[in-house]
Amino acid sequence: MTSQPLTTLVVIPTYNESTTLPLTLDRLREAVPYADVLVVDDNSPDGTGAVADRIAAQDSQVHVVHREGKQGLGTAYIAGFRWGLERDYEVLVEMDADGSHRAIDLPRILAQLDLYPDAALVLGSRWVSGGRTENWPASRQAISRVGNTYVQLALGLPLGDATGGFRAYRANALRALDLGSVASEGYCFQVDMVWRIHQSGAQIIEVPITFVEREAGESKMTGGIVREALVNVTVWGAKHRALQVRDLTATGFGHLKDAVQNLRH
Ligand code: GDD
Ligand code: MN
Repeated sequence: MTSQPLTTLVVIPTYNESTTLPLTLDRLREAVPYADVLVVDDNSPDGTGAVADRIAAQDSQVHVVHREGKQGLGTAYIAGFRWGLERDYEVLVEMDADGSHRAIDLPRILAQLDLYPDAALVLGSRWVSGGRTENWPASRQAISRVGNTYVQLALGLPLGDATGGFRAYRANALRALDLGSVASEGYCFQVDMVWRIHQSGAQIIEVPITFVEREAGESKMTGGIVREALVNVTVWGAKHRALQVRDLTATGFGHLKDAVQNLRH
């Protein structure tokens, strides 16, 4: 095995997570002590930004980026990735602040990047064998399952959980993407990133995780976020299928045309 772990930055976006963030950071620092952490706070009205600053003042491995107002999960992650890429981290991790993603699952996720040098992205997965949710309302489970099934069908993605937000990217895989063109603001960002990496042909690995319902605070999921995801996945799916048909016409039907023409001659 490698002696030195890959330099790792865990990006945690926050909006009104002042009660959950401290415990999440404690658990994370204990489970993966070598990893640095970047909190990206959108000027949370509950003072999460100040809570993060206080922790960062005590711990040189915790950093904070403050943004002006709520701009969505996707843009928070892009800002965090840029921060990490500028500083040459080799691995960038996504993790929620609310305790839903267990820090103790992270070493298993990270180990895949050591084990498989070609893996670009490792997904923490609720919907593969061994993965599960704890205390998550049936309504949220249904949205997640239906959403993931739709993603599989529309995009032809062979993955159990493309919408989850607990994952590790190899920095070079992010560098190879045009992050500036990622327009998804909400949770649809998760599918957007998986889809881009899948299309680039890079390897994606899934690792089962236990997703625990948040201990305090509220989900930021809204109807608008679900709508954005539905519209975008449908558009990407339609483009993907159109390209497949074009390829079929160019190759399969093309051969057929040649064959017919040969018959004529
Ligand atoms: N900076 C910032 N700005 N952070 C945000 C914003 C935003 O606009 N919206 C949400 N967050 C943060 C939350 O504070 C939390 O740390 C994390 O992003 C996830 O938000 P939640 O509101 O807790 O998400 P959830 O529990 O409903 O959704 C979970 O499931 C989704 C679907 O599978 C998460 O795991 C999502 O990542 C996942 O896409
Ligand atoms: Mn959550």
